[in-house]
Amino acid sequence: MTASARSFASFEAAFAKAFEEEISGETFFAALAETEPAPRRAALWHKLAVIENRTDAALRGFATEFGVSPADETAVQLSGRAEAADWQALPFLEVMAIMDRDYPAYVVEFTNLLDRAPEAAKPAAQLLIDHEIAIIAMARAELSGKEDPAAPLDAYLARLAGAADGL
Ligand SMILES: [Fe+2]
Repeated sequence: MTASARSFASFEAAFAKAFEEEISGETFFAALAETEPAPRRAALWHKLAVIENRTDAALRGFATEFGVSPADETAVQLSGRAEAADWQALPFLEVMAIMDRDYPAYVVEFTNLLDRAPEAAKPAAQLLIDHEIAIIAMARAELSGKEDPAAPLDAYLARLAGAADGL
């Protein structure tokens, strides 16, 4: 069943969930990278773990400011690893098809989050949208078999690095 966007009671609740899912996302994709036997595919999972890490880092200051950091970050990291088991059991292209189908719901969630974000947090909310779009583009490129799936991920990471330099 296609995932649908969740709704949250407040901006803080939405931000807390997004922040937590970037933390668990990093360990989720790292676990997939560790068990993927094909180096090219493992490299894609590794890039996703890096993206989640960088996005998490961009959100962290606001998570502290809003008081929405998870109480037990280690437990969140472990949950990401545990969740990876479902996808580790599936063929790679099936996982790409799930991402293509389900991840647009996150774009909707993050767009709603951006709409409610305080002005100062809007760039961080935009990063959430952009990282999800890059990940979906990766899955679609992989499924097409014609484009380089790493390209949208590299472009996002390059932009993030450029933005950090400008701060
Ligand atoms: Fe993410």
